[in-house]
Amino acid sequence: MEKDRSLQPPPPHVLVFPFPLQGHINSMIKLAELLALAGFKLTFLNSHYNHERLVKFNNIAAHFERYQGFEFKTITDGLPLDHPRSGNWFLDMYEEALEMKMKSGFAIDVAKELEIPIIYFRTSSPCSFWVYYSIPDIIQAGELPIKGSEDMNRLLTTVPGMETYLRCRDLPSFCRETDIEDSIIKLYVKQTQKSSQADALILNTAEELDGPILSQIRTKCPRVYAIGPLHAQLNTRLKAKHGESYDHFSNTLWEVDKSCIFWLDKQPNRSVIYVSFGSITSTSREQLVELWYGLLNSKTKFLLVVRPNSVIGKDGEGEDVVVELMEKSKDQGYIVNWAPQEAVLNHPAVGGFFTHNGWNSTLESIVAGVPMICWPYFADQQVNSRVVSEVWKIGLDMKDICDKKIVEKMVKDVMVDQKEEFVQSAAEMAKVTNQSVNVGGSSYSNLDHLIEDIRIMSL
Ligand code: UDX
Repeated sequence: MEKDRSLQPPPPHVLVFPFPLQGHINSMIKLAELLALAGFKLTFLNSHYNHERLVKFNNIAAHFERYQGFEFKTITDGLPLDHPRSGNWFLDMYEEALEMKMKSGFAIDVAKELEIPIIYFRTSSPCSFWVYYSIPDIIQAGELPIKGSEDMNRLLTTVPGMETYLRCRDLPSFCRETDIEDSIIKLYVKQTQKSSQADALILNTAEELDGPILSQIRTKCPRVYAIGPLHAQLNTRLKAKHGESYDHFSNTLWEVDKSCIFWLDKQPNRSVIYVSFGSITSTSREQLVELWYGLLNSKTKFLLVVRPNSVIGKDGEGEDVVVELMEKSKDQGYIVNWAPQEAVLNHPAVGGFFTHNGWNSTLESIVAGVPMICWPYFADQQVNSRVVSEVWKIGLDMKDICDKKIVEKMVKDVMVDQKEEFVQSAAEMAKVTNQSVNVGGSSYSNLDHLIEDIRIMSL
């Protein structure tokens, strides 16, 4: 018997509001699409500037018009559209925005006032979430602040579940400040602990990846949905609905240079190391040159991403060095401003990823089964790189060093000398992670539960 549609409740209407950075938009828009696939009405709220770039560099209009009730809305970030938001300046703005957001309490207080159910989606890693949550205990135990550089390798005893591997060096970068009382870390802690007041918490991971940490988080936030890796979950569900030739949506804020795929096509299997540090990281000119020499001396082919305005040199010099390096390494390397990262990581020619360990990059590498060399820059990346190297054993951690000899050795270790071990452990990790997003897998079922629970919440 056909159901009487007039008796069915209207679909839930979900407002998705990401922090205005590429790493956050990426996973938030994937979550939005997954909810739209479930028949929800979606409003995706973005800064005007980022929305303009999404429209300019991607097929968003064509892609999302298939979902009835999917709407993009924008708000201004207060800056003119032609303002140069990049490099260190951007980081300052990021911290200011973060401070404003956290001081105001923001979304959770508004939702409580309006009596709307609120679900937090923390787009960074669960391990960093748990460390932020534990910081008051670390301080209370006298394990913070860090007492100088000779104290960096001290193991911390006060983060449950991480006692055997978390050192001061692996704490989120903001913990390195000596004046903890007056540091941005306090705002992070406040914001993280507020998560337990939300109706639920979404994390971009799988039970198989982060089980022990998820159990710890669940002691504080009872309704936790581990539904990731979201990009893999979305691919699975789109494939199931539309077949192999499903329409893949890109959500990049920079123009993608696809020529690197043609270059990769000409390289042997697992011969290339992909080098990219996400959307916020900047390097000094000296660091970039050191890195480049290390790559060159390793004799390994490399694909290097250098984002516009991401090289900081004295007297404004910076980017020009890239042209120089490119000329000198024509036979061994290929340099682009922005790569189609998922496609690159899944290309057979790529055998390693030199990464800053942003959470999206880390997950994308895991799903593709690519071992990592970790050079974390800030925030959660310091913790992520420790987990990659010490817990999952799918990479090496180069944290706090940028020396051409070390770069050369690590690249040789991952690409040649310890290749077999790394390829095997990365393949095993990829297998369990990919299973989690298949029908019957943990992340797949958790998303089904989340969808059901949102329906109930919205009645
Ligand atoms: C930020 C934080 O740095 C990170 O630690 C946090 O977990 C999320 O927000 P970002 O530094 O940009 O993000 O790193 P990451 O999370 O790795 O996101 C970068 C995204 O840009 C990835 O999805 C990656 O696929 C994409 N990317 C990167 C490209 O598409 N092309 C590139 O050339 C480089």
